[in-house]
Amino acid sequence: MRVGVLTGGGDCPGLNAVIRAVVRKGINDYGYEFVGFRDGWRGPLEGDTMPLDRAAVRGILPRGGTILGSSRTNLMKIEGGVERVKDNLAGLGIDALVAIGGEDTLGVAARLTERGVNVVGVPKTIDNDLNATDYTFGFDTAVNIATEAIDRLHTTAESHHRALVVEVMGRHAGWIALHSGMAAGANAILIPERPFDIDEVVGWVESRFKTQYAPIIVVAEGAHPKDGQMELATGETDSFGHVRLGGIGQRLADEIEKRTGEEARSVVLGHVQRGGTPSAFDRVLATRLGVHAISAVHDRDWGKMVALQGTDIVRVELAEATDELKTVPTERYAEAEVFFG
Ligand code: F6P
Repeated sequence: MRVGVLTGGGDCPGLNAVIRAVVRKGINDYGYEFVGFRDGWRGPLEGDTMPLDRAAVRGILPRGGTILGSSRTNLMKIEGGVERVKDNLAGLGIDALVAIGGEDTLGVAARLTERGVNVVGVPKTIDNDLNATDYTFGFDTAVNIATEAIDRLHTTAESHHRALVVEVMGRHAGWIALHSGMAAGANAILIPERPFDIDEVVGWVESRFKTQYAPIIVVAEGAHPKDGQMELATGETDSFGHVRLGGIGQRLADEIEKRTGEEARSVVLGHVQRGGTPSAFDRVLATRLGVHAISAVHDRDWGKMVALQGTDIVRVELAEATDELKTVPTERYAEAEVFFG
């Protein structure tokens, strides 16, 4: 069989580990040939390929990013896009595709399956917001990076008696904020799933200052106040219609400073959370997902996504994974709230 591999959406530590596992098992156990498609769905759309043999995947296990490149190309928004992809796959003699991506990339994969393309999906996102899998690779690395940053910010905030607002990624789901905030002992964690009350946040900050301790507030980029409490900036949208966020951390720091009279600063961790080498947990998870994805190809189990459930890797319908986002449930947030203020 000749198998195409692509990585789409925001990059994520562990992508190369999946590519390596898919290629190594595919060659060793099944004698497959591989073709790399560059930059997500743009690759099959434009027939832009690169060699993907054993030599191409040597030494990439610990490397961040993706050797295939990535993009947020939305095939479904391109006139005749699906037909072009099908023609290019036929022209290149590709029998199947392994698509490694988040809700957008895998959403396209689900639509392509309905149109007769042989696709198997692998879940990826630092946001951990894909349904049907307990964790996505990249999340653990992002949480470790954010936790280390918050630990460091604690000591400088203490020295200067300042409040520090740390903005982490997470447009629709607050998983990174929840886990890094809990791990690093934040005084408040604000997530998109729970609009915050600015008076309550200011109360937590003030009580923390009273104990001679510097408050640290972790805020997900998609968090927002209850209706009408603060003005927020609106941004441009990408081809999947997601607003480019950023700015809530600074707005919150300004508001805290104004209301408490104490100095407040903000730090945006941004793409640092996505860069660099994957954690050991993510390397193992990514490798296992890659191994199971190529087994699914071998079984011709199209339209499936490999997923972590408990400690097992299972296969679920792509549609099940992409229909709805996995957000932070109320009871998980309640566990973190115990430590606010
Ligand atoms: O989906 C992953 C993610 O890192 C989100 O947490 C973040 O909102 C978004 O990508 C940022 O996207 P971009 O790479 O376009 O800045």
